[in-house]
Amino acid sequence: MSAKTMDKTMSHADKSKTPTRRDFLILTAGAVGAVGTAAAVWPFIDSMNPSADVLAQSTTDVDLSAIEAGQAITVMWQGKPVFIRHRTPEEINAAEQTPMSELIDPQSDEARVKKGKAQWLVVVGICTHLGCVPNGQKPTQDRGKYGGWLCPCHGSLYDTSGRVRRGPAPLNLLVPPYTFLSDTSIRIGAEEKANA
Ligand code: FES
Repeated sequence: MSAKTMDKTMSHADKSKTPTRRDFLILTAGAVGAVGTAAAVWPFIDSMNPSADVLAQSTTDVDLSAIEAGQAITVMWQGKPVFIRHRTPEEINAAEQTPMSELIDPQSDEARVKKGKAQWLVVVGICTHLGCVPNGQKPTQDRGKYGGWLCPCHGSLYDTSGRVRRGPAPLNLLVPPYTFLSDTSIRIGAEEKANA
């Protein structure tokens, strides 16, 4: 190969490897596009995170006086359904007597209710599998073998303490923070441990 031909070949090869001004412009536009998207999305995401002040105010007060033993109501708290059940002595007994060895997510009934208020069970009504709302709030609905709730989506069963007894749900229904304002009223969302 002559020196002239070699020069020509090199110059072709270099040209194909060296980014052109057009490539540079395209790359720059891509980078600006990505930053622009992130900048536009951030205020939206940020607006979905309420401040601590707003969260602290997000409480729901509930009057329990009209709920008779065996009945349950659903209230909304921070956009989530919360089940409040006035348990019968039989339901309390069943929850208290269940051996820990039979539980998928072992937790005593005592740890899920307030001291001296075992007749009141308060749980977030969202199945811990994929988030469906379990049936069992209305007496006409099938509550399943353990007398609590039955998830219509994939058949998880919860007992009278809201503990999962048959999966696929892996965890018990969540007990939200709440406190008794009087013997017959509670505040859901108040900063207090579930069993305080
Ligand atoms: Fe409840 Fe799947 S969402 S069992």
